[in-house]
Amino acid sequence: CITFINILREDMARLDVTEIFHGILFPGHLHTQDSLQLALKFLFQDTDVLIVSYPKSGTTWMQEIVTLISSRGDPHLSQTIPNWTRAPWLEQYYCADLLKTSTSTPRVLTTHLPHHLLGPALQGTKARIIYVSRNPKDVLVSFYHFHKMANFLPDAGSFPEFLNQFLQGTLHFGSWFDHVRGWTNQAAALSLIHVSYEEMSMNLHGAINRVSSFLQRPLLEHELNDCVKHCSFSCMKDNKMINYTLIPDEILDHSKGCFMRKGEIGDWKTMFTEEQNQYFDSMFKSRMQDCTLKFVWEKT
Ligand code: A3P
Repeated sequence: CITFINILREDMARLDVTEIFHGILFPGHLHTQDSLQLALKFLFQDTDVLIVSYPKSGTTWMQEIVTLISSRGDPHLSQTIPNWTRAPWLEQYYCADLLKTSTSTPRVLTTHLPHHLLGPALQGTKARIIYVSRNPKDVLVSFYHFHKMANFLPDAGSFPEFLNQFLQGTLHFGSWFDHVRGWTNQAAALSLIHVSYEEMSMNLHGAINRVSSFLQRPLLEHELNDCVKHCSFSCMKDNKMINYTLIPDEILDHSKGCFMRKGEIGDWKTMFTEEQNQYFDSMFKSRMQDCTLKFVWEKT
């Protein structure tokens, strides 16, 4: 963990750098052309677990859930090892070195890459993929607040400007629509489970149970209850191995916000005007028309 923070400090010079890879912007302080290229050639093992999401969809929450399932609800690992070491991002430049020294089985990896980039590397593997989605309006609001504290992301600008960029797919990490459509449309061809932020919020016990069955790590009732307890919003907010307070202020300005911000469903309603909401809905309809999936947030 200390080594990793030191690497981050050495890399301050790249805080203003943006890498453009296959037309998508990535923050240069953790991504390089080489690290992104390496991710596309990654050799997956059938035992790998891969958490996939568009940013701000509940990635960190799922990392915590997977760690807790592996340790049968015992919080020791999740309270002593930072999430980025337990479940490193495949496309970030420290990942390859970390994996060389890691002995954990199964390997747990994370990625924000879209399916059209990572899909070829996954062809033919039985790696288990957990796709996490969230109501895009809540993703957008969470991402907007995160931009204000993240010095490795551009200035968020005004909310209407940010909303337009989100809809155009020009923010860092690319288009939410392409990401969700790309991965969920491939679900049948992959060993993939789709878990939504809303499902975790409304029925954490059930969501963890579903993930543990998918990972073939069935839990006893008391172990499941321990998982639920340790990955609650309040527990995670106080756990410095997951709440990002270990990241220096120069990178994440903790005076400007909190990574574990609100953790709610429907926070978008505090930011969207009626007009923005209608515009968003019409864009959603046209961009997702070939997506057969009905999302939880559409049903509520
Ligand atoms: P908010 O900014 O809306 O609070 P990611 O890990 O993909 O970057 O997503 C971060 C979002 O997930 C933040 O949303 C954060 O608060 C929320 N989150 C993380 N852990 C959570 C938990 N245990 N319960 C509810 N929300 C959680």
